[in-house]
Amino acid sequence: MQTTLILLKPDTVERGLIGQVISRLENKGLTLVGLKMMQLDDAIINEHYDFLADKPFFPSIQSYMKRTPVVAMAVRGKNAVTTVRSLTGATNPSEALPGSIRGDFGLTIDGNIIHASDSEETAKTELNRFFGGKDIFDYTKMIEEIL
Ligand code: CMP
Repeated sequence: MQTTLILLKPDTVERGLIGQVISRLENKGLTLVGLKMMQLDDAIINEHYDFLADKPFFPSIQSYMKRTPVVAMAVRGKNAVTTVRSLTGATNPSEALPGSIRGDFGLTIDGNIIHASDSEETAKTELNRFFGGKDIFDYTKMIEEIL
């Protein structure tokens, strides 16, 4: 079982798409084990996107990620990291396939709806960054007890 980190970005919050994106994750069978709204500050944005710090578009990421609060989620399931990345689609929504979250809801790279950890190792770092070991819940669904 893996747990991965998802951020629903400010455009998702502003456009009222939070529920629709979460539904796709739940419909897939993934389990939400952590969910909170957070206003990101420069420190956490700079840490999270440190690998992009020398890119010309870095200032636009900084301002975009602070526009509104984001929704941070911990999502659990078998192969959760790759499953969520495949539901999410390509980074640039204009290249993301229809049927994927970015393919259906996004139009441009500067508003790409969702962030999802790209490996199990990254997920551990990012879950720690956004949840700090708190507010992630371990529970069993009734259907899992029956099966
Ligand atoms: P994310 O999956 O959060 O990880 C890296 C982020 O950098 C990506 O989503 C985009 O939000 C952002 N990004 C990547 N390339 C560009 C670009 N050319 N212009 C603006 N933002 C970008």
